[in-house]
Amino acid sequence: MQLSASLSQRLSGTALIPGDKSISHRALMFGALAVGETVITGLLEGEDVHATAGALSAMGAQVHRDHDGTWRVFGVGVGGLMEPQTELAMGNSGTSTRLLLGLMATTPITATLTGDASLSKRPMARVTKPLEAMGAQFVAREGVRLPLTVTGASLPRPLTYTLPVASAQVKSAVLLAGLNAPGLTTVIEPVATRDHTERMLQAFGATISIEDREEGRVIALMGEQELAPATIQVPRDPSSAAFPVIAALITEGSKITLPGMLLNPGRIGLYETLKEMGAKIAIENERMEGGEPVGDLSVEYSPLTAVAVPPERAPSMIDEYPALFAAAALAQGRTLARGLEELRVKESDRLAVMAEGLKACGVKVEEFEDGLAIHGTGGTPVPGGATVKTHLDHRIAMAFLTLGLAAQAPVTVDDATPIETSFPGFAALMSGLGAAIKAQGE
Ligand code: S3P
Repeated sequence: MQLSASLSQRLSGTALIPGDKSISHRALMFGALAVGETVITGLLEGEDVHATAGALSAMGAQVHRDHDGTWRVFGVGVGGLMEPQTELAMGNSGTSTRLLLGLMATTPITATLTGDASLSKRPMARVTKPLEAMGAQFVAREGVRLPLTVTGASLPRPLTYTLPVASAQVKSAVLLAGLNAPGLTTVIEPVATRDHTERMLQAFGATISIEDREEGRVIALMGEQELAPATIQVPRDPSSAAFPVIAALITEGSKITLPGMLLNPGRIGLYETLKEMGAKIAIENERMEGGEPVGDLSVEYSPLTAVAVPPERAPSMIDEYPALFAAAALAQGRTLARGLEELRVKESDRLAVMAEGLKACGVKVEEFEDGLAIHGTGGTPVPGGATVKTHLDHRIAMAFLTLGLAAQAPVTVDDATPIETSFPGFAALMSGLGAAIKAQGE
């Protein structure tokens, strides 16, 4: 399905962004490991989260959706998941794959995971290595890629592990495995990453300690504890909100509000960066919901100025660079973002794919091994007029549909279907704010 975005003005209204993807995956997984009924509201009903729900059901957890959109998970207890009878289809979802591998690594079952063409290219050694040290066995395609079969340890061993890459997925995989290993499993993060797993472990009653030490953040989890069910209200996803927020910033006369947004410090690097660029973004009504900080955002059209994004900010905005690059194309000056080698192994090689698409839209870009420099127009619409390949990457599709709203000629994405993985209803929500996004030929 192709979608096109054309020059727009004056976006306005309230954007109700779907639930946070990271928190949604974890709520289902911890619910499946607790004893009793976990109730989840605001769950993201995207394909990635459905992949997690499907896998947990196939392993014996009961996962139900009420008519009003409330989800109920009847857990089987830590270590209680059963062997699935068929392959588990992970679709496009790296988070489902890596976190579930952790969960299965210390459960004595065998399971095979498959993925789409994008997920089947992504590296899994970053999780299989520590999980092998905990006793799991893996058979995978060359380069430790999907399809992959895991056999969980029948005598799991706890682990102390220093993360070699700043990855919340790897941290979470080791902690999930540690839940069913005797004794203390410890993860040391030299660079802090999103902490939803730690927060949720606490909400489900696990004993966990978190300390900031010289070597980094040290997270220690006592294994073989029973988890108590929880009631989780999932806040709205700041990574999805990035697109309407930037759309409002770059289209003249816009003003939109986004209530109930997740404001976890490990997730709001983009918003700090945009403010440094001159964005008028106000946060009101800050509060705690379900153990996470939440607030209401209001955003107005703002002339943007280029910045150099500090590389150490990358973990707190790792999914937001495609959106940032669209904003940078309209900023005054050269925006530089480096320290981003991880972007080459996301749903697509986001540095190469963004550079190619931006150039096709008439934007001047320099590509480095670990980042991009973007020469912005200073607010004049970019030329546009290109059809961009999305390479099965939802965020590439949304970034170019956002850029097209400030382009002289429409910007088309060749395949918008991946947007369903993380932001169902994206095109309708954007159109509701006044954005000219439509199916090709409409
Ligand atoms: C996620 C962590 C990030 C992010 C992904 C979701 C998570 O990946 O890119 O979309 O939910 O833990 P890494 O931890 O691999 O950087």
